[in-house]
Amino acid sequence: MNITLLKNNISAIINDVNLKSNEKRQQICDVLRANVSYYDWVGFYFKNGTKNELKLAEFSGKPTSHKIIPFGKGICGQVALSNQNFVVPNVQEQDNYISCGIDVKSEIVIPIFVNNKNIGQIDIDSHQVNPFSKNDEILLEYVCEKVATLF
Ligand code: SME
Repeated sequence: MNITLLKNNISAIINDVNLKSNEKRQQICDVLRANVSYYDWVGFYFKNGTKNELKLAEFSGKPTSHKIIPFGKGICGQVALSNQNFVVPNVQEQDNYISCGIDVKSEIVIPIFVNNKNIGQIDIDSHQVNPFSKNDEILLEYVCEKVATLF
């Protein structure tokens, strides 16, 4: 993974005055999935108004039926409460996990903060076991900081 190049791509998308915020997030999903071989599904979930649940926003990859996720449920719902990065090298070892397909072997979720409040997250599924390193966290934290500026 070429972190510098990807960060530059993300930054260019964020700064593109011709794109709306949702279009920027969509392009970010598409760019990440196209450029990182083990990113098989990339999506954003955000807090659904005043409800204690997450709602799926932009994504790249196979459509999922998990458009609403209650806080506390699954990897995503746990991050909504913990405010921490959650790297799952092998989803089979997680009890509190919502499956989005038999192909998915691992997952990483990084929260998005606006004014220190957890407003949502980026969620990535991989078809490989244990593909994520510290570099993924560094890249995705950068993505989340940039996406936070859209709010
Ligand atoms: N696996 C997630 C659900 C969302 S899908 O991965 C798109 C979870 O356990 O929260």
